[in-house]
Amino acid sequence: MRRGVAVSHVEGIGLGLRIEIAERTLSEPPAALRFVEIHPENYMRRGGRFRSVLERALDRFPVLSHGLTMGFGSSDPFDRDYLADLRELLRRIGAPWHSDHACFASADGVFAHDLLPLPWCERTLQTMTRRFEEARDALGVPLAVENVSYYAPSDRDETSEVEFLVALLERTDGLLLLDVNNVYVNARNFGFDARAFLDRIPAGRIVQLHVAGHLVRDDGLRIDTHGEAVCDDVYALLEHVLRRIGPRPVLLERDQSFPSWEALCAEIERLDAIYRRAVAHWQACQEAAQ
Ligand SMILES: [Fe+2]
Repeated sequence: MRRGVAVSHVEGIGLGLRIEIAERTLSEPPAALRFVEIHPENYMRRGGRFRSVLERALDRFPVLSHGLTMGFGSSDPFDRDYLADLRELLRRIGAPWHSDHACFASADGVFAHDLLPLPWCERTLQTMTRRFEEARDALGVPLAVENVSYYAPSDRDETSEVEFLVALLERTDGLLLLDVNNVYVNARNFGFDARAFLDRIPAGRIVQLHVAGHLVRDDGLRIDTHGEAVCDDVYALLEHVLRRIGPRPVLLERDQSFPSWEALCAEIERLDAIYRRAVAHWQACQEAAQ
């Protein structure tokens, strides 16, 4: 299926290819748009409109793949048919890597349809390491884990979330899809320093970034909805990360309550301006260090 665009080097600003905005994404993309990202669950085993949207996207943009159902912390065995079909889709779209979440998504065959956190402890680390390696072997592409937002901290934590993630990346020799909004939401809800968290992640492990908007409830709790505009603090954190790690693909996640097309394009242009400024700073630092 892959025909149009080389994906060996993806960077700059991308947008989630949601069916509600797919037509405008593909026919009137903002000038700064460099790639799109799909949830493969929406495109596997489907024809019709989904297949034609994917084929049009492949003609125009690099397409990255981000799964929703693998849940590296789940206890259920993987669905072998799902892994085989996903491997085939990743091959067809020329995916340079695939990502899914550091959470559990199902138990006893029942999917939570939410990304549920686990205690940050050695037992969870062993489960995630085993499943991450099993999935990577089955898919045949590099694999990245994404940090999630959560709302009920566990009383069985043995370490912090960031130290857990660093240990997981080292143990699996894996990659991280760093969701900056999720770090910010957790930091505000649970009172830790988002910049210190971001600075702790080894730059070489970070393969991609996510940004999104979140809801602030009346009681102050922040909920990761992907249905609001990105807030100023998350823009600032994104710039902070990019100045340290340099160019990476940065995806804007917008999954519901879509604004006008003009407003969405303006968000992408704002992200691109921040991206260019941060990467220029990173490049100047690289040159100064030589
Ligand atoms: Fe994300």
